[in-house]
Amino acid sequence: MDATTPYRLEATGISKSYGAISALTDVEIALKPGEVMALLGENGAGKSTIVKIISGLIVPDQGTIKIDGEEVQLHTVNASQAAGIAVVQQEFSTVGTLSVAENLALGQRGAPWWWGPRKLNQAATGILARVGLDDLDPNTLVENLSVAEMQLLEIARVLARDAKIVIFDEPTAALSDREIERVLSVVKRLAAEGRSIIYVTHRLGEVFEIADQVVIFRNGRSHPPQPVGELTVDKVVTMMIGRELGDLYPDRSAGMGDVVLEAKGLKVAGLRGEVDLQLRRGEILGLTGQLGSGTTDILKAIAGTGDVAAGTIELDGTPIEVGGRRHGIAMGIAYCSPDRKKDGIFGGISIRRNLSSPWLKRVSNLGFVNAKKEADEAASSAAQFAIDRSRMQALVGNLSGGNQQKVAVGKWLGIRPRVLLVEEPTRGVDVGARAEIYAQLRQLSDSGVGVIVSSSDTNEVLGLSDTVATYYRGAQTAKKPANQWTEPELVREVMHREE
Ligand SMILES: Nc1ncnc2c1ncn2[C@@H]1O[C@H](COP(=O)(O)OP(=O)(O)OP(=O)(O)O)[C@@H](O)[C@H]1O
Ligand SMILES: [Mg+2]
Repeated sequence: MDATTPYRLEATGISKSYGAISALTDVEIALKPGEVMALLGENGAGKSTIVKIISGLIVPDQGTIKIDGEEVQLHTVNASQAAGIAVVQQEFSTVGTLSVAENLALGQRGAPWWWGPRKLNQAATGILARVGLDDLDPNTLVENLSVAEMQLLEIARVLARDAKIVIFDEPTAALSDREIERVLSVVKRLAAEGRSIIYVTHRLGEVFEIADQVVIFRNGRSHPPQPVGELTVDKVVTMMIGRELGDLYPDRSAGMGDVVLEAKGLKVAGLRGEVDLQLRRGEILGLTGQLGSGTTDILKAIAGTGDVAAGTIELDGTPIEVGGRRHGIAMGIAYCSPDRKKDGIFGGISIRRNLSSPWLKRVSNLGFVNAKKEADEAASSAAQFAIDRSRMQALVGNLSGGNQQKVAVGKWLGIRPRVLLVEEPTRGVDVGARAEIYAQLRQLSDSGVGVIVSSSDTNEVLGLSDTVATYYRGAQTAKKPANQWTEPELVREVMHREE
């Protein structure tokens, strides 16, 4: 590819507003065949908006789009697909009540409607193997998949199409290193085949591995593209957030106190062996593992929503009735799920009401909400989690993905839990806001709340926690103070040296 190669995709002068909010102003993007362009920017900067415009999900107020030099109207998803564009959206578009195979067949030209289940399953197995889901039964209902599996399924769906422009909107936000490597190699292969790739991410390391050009978005405007060779992570961060970041992670615990939470001999469905786990006051415990490691099942068991056959859980030395009616929020145990759409937030109601939902009773009397108290307390949660306080009445469903995540985490703060269990605390959150979430979690822990974080991001687990435990296929494989791990060693442990 040289300077004379014509552009495959050119978007010029793209603008889009929602009432008073300018999501995009005069955005320019141009890319050539075989090129990977990374789109970066803070939460709400406009990345998904341009992706949705190119995919025909929303129509811009202004601007033109050309493909191979010809102006096109991408006003519907069909028009966009017909123009050779395939998109992995940030929010999943699979249908939960259909099977994996049926989802793969949806909207795919190669799968005629008369194919029976056997034929569909055969076709599905081949596509699934390309994203490393070899073990997944194509008959599984999508609603029973983990977030990571759903993400890989979304990618598989797009690979099943033969598109000349492929767009990925945060495809790795919910994935661990091994799955990320697979996605990155898929992207590299697509580019090597001469396809043009747009790749949105908050994981900046990925950018330097796969991108040729970087376009940084800030407040709905795009910077001109920059060759990746001229950038460093620090430069990118400063351009994204408009200042230098400083330390991403807060200091570790100054000292640990009594045991807040202890689980002994828990037999949990889906896990091998028994779970024994101890958490001290002032300690942040980090759990990590790749797809199928079992960390989700452990947190759900502790939260009282899991399937526990035997064992005990003690809070401050007092046993609780495991799986009983009062196990959970009633005991002060808050669980923040990685699936924010399914059990984190309510898209159709305001930021304020989402934040207040776990503790609305506390500010109500005889069924009437004390609006001032609700507003005050919600505003203070918002401040702590970098949520825009001028938009407290906005519907959460209209927020960008990362901003929805901040609401999902922030809402559990207000119940003043004794134990906070958070999975993927910063899924899709930009680096600036991540630092604020980490600082909040550390402050909660310092103030005596038991904090357990589970994350597929080994860097995050290592940077945030005092103690790190690794899991592989349903069993713990190692547990050490965070300062006794190195990152490469942790990555190897998580993959369990399977090579
Ligand atoms: N339907 C809508 N109504 C009002 N505002 C909207 C709507 N859709 C998007 N927005 C706003 O447009 C802006 C850009 O959002 P967008 O989703 O493009 O951000 P993003 O860069 O993808 O962020 P993230 O990294 O969090 O995914 C945000 O302020 C968002 O709240
Ligand atoms: Mg987005």
